Parts: sequence; structure tokens; C-alpha cells
Amino acid sequence: MITKVAQISDTHLSKSRPLFDGNFAPVQDALRQNRPDLVIHTGDLSLDGADSSEDLRHGTAAMNALGLDWLALPGNHDVGDDAALGGRQPITTERLTRWESCVGPLHFTRDIPGWRLIGLDSQGFSANPAHRAAIAEAIATAGPRHIALFQHKPITEEALDDTAVNYWPLLPSPRAELLAMFGGRRPALIASGHVHQWRDRTADGIRQIWAPAIGFIVGDPWQHRVGAKILGWVEHEFHADGTHAARLHAMPELPLHDLGEIPQAYGPMPRL
Ligand SMILES: [Fe+2]
Ligand SMILES: [Fe+2]
Repeated sequence: MITKVAQISDTHLSKSRPLFDGNFAPVQDALRQNRPDLVIHTGDLSLDGADSSEDLRHGTAAMNALGLDWLALPGNHDVGDDAALGGRQPITTERLTRWESCVGPLHFTRDIPGWRLIGLDSQGFSANPAHRAAIAEAIATAGPRHIALFQHKPITEEALDDTAVNYWPLLPSPRAELLAMFGGRRPALIASGHVHQWRDRTADGIRQIWAPAIGFIVGDPWQHRVGAKILGWVEHEFHADGTHAARLHAMPELPLHDLGEIPQAYGPMPRL
């Protein structure tokens, strides 16, 4: 028994500023052709859902238009970011509630043969005790199932004990909180987005897959290259015996928008 899950990420959709919407229609077609059992969007569904209900509703409508079973979890452009980073859109109750009313829950648990899939909000993890409690419960009650986490930010850039604090990976404190919930176990897979780079590696006993974005990349003058700066999506196969396979669906036919050259999206980007 195999469950096929399509992971898509970082569409950055907007009705009023559709800078990246053109990239989603070909992906919708590809997904309809692929016919996965489930589509999981790993965040930054919207261009500016952190301040716009309309962007969130627009993103939700685009996902509904797939005609496929889908789940989503929020990204920093959907609900704001961890306040520790000092950005202009910190996580607030208002922003989290906006996501819940326009898109759906901030987390999900989906059991499939051999596996428990858990989606979480990596930005509000430390600030939202109810969310933490729900994730702890989902992990604690997984039983013999293997656990796959889906979250917007990668668990780390390199090692689980990294201490660097920056915009890209989960911060050290929520990372430690999340991993502590596993006790002596480890998630078998962590699938994330946010970095807008494709990477697939196993480190610290965890397969860590970074989905490429659909909307745009961030060019080298503005972002270090860790993985591949391409656009596309990821097909996961979860097997009932606990094994897992993943395959990149690169989409070189999509325009390779570079956020560094599109300041009308989020303003001018600082160069490295
Ligand atoms: Fe993004
Ligand atoms: Fe993001």
C-alpha cells in the first residue's frame, strides 16, 4: 500500500498583486495529471496573508480549484514571523485567527498506512502554547507509525545543534522544543519550504527535504546558495512498511522570477 503525497510550497499568491500567480496554473495542471492522494502546501500560500484576508482567501480558492484533497500549513508571509527575528510582521493572535478563518487549522494530523503526517506552524511554535500542546499530543499518540513532519521552515540549515539565529531555518529554541517532544525518537522525515531552494539530504538521522518554491527564487546576490535554485514540487511516496521515497518534479518551463529583481513584492532586498 502506497500513499502518494504531492508537496508544493511558496506560491505567494495574491489577487490584488498577482506577481507570481502565473506560475501556479501549470502546477495545477501537473498535479491534476499526477493525481496524488493528497496535496500538502508547506506555506507562503499567499503574497501577504499576514496583513490581507483577501490574499489568504484567494490562495484558498486556488487550492480548492485543484479538485484534489489538500492540506496547508502557514508560512511567514501568511501569519507573520517569530517575534525573535524582529521583522515588521510579528506573529499575533489576530494574524493566526485570520489564517484559521480564511484557510483552516494551523496544524493537521493525517494517518495513512504506516505513517502519521503532522503539519505544524513553524513561525508561531514558541508563541502559541495551544499549538505546541496539539503537536505534542499528535507525536505522543503516533504509536508504531513513522512520523513525517511538514512545516514551512526547515528544522535547521546544517546540524540540529546549530545555534545561528537567522531568517531561514527554525530558531534554536523552537527547534529544541519540537525535538524534545519526540523523546528518544526522531521524525523519519521533515519536509519544508521557505528557503526557495531544493535540497534532499539525511542528517542527524532525519531525512530533510526542502521543496523548491513555485513562485520565485532568491538570486545569489541576496541569498546564499545551499541547495538548487529551481522551481517545482516534490512527490512523496509513503509505504505501509515505513519506507519512503521522494522525487523532484522540476518545472524549468516556469519563468524563474528572482525576488531580488522584484522590489514591488516585498521591497528592496539587502545584498549579502
Ligand atoms: Fe516563501
Ligand atoms: Fe517563507
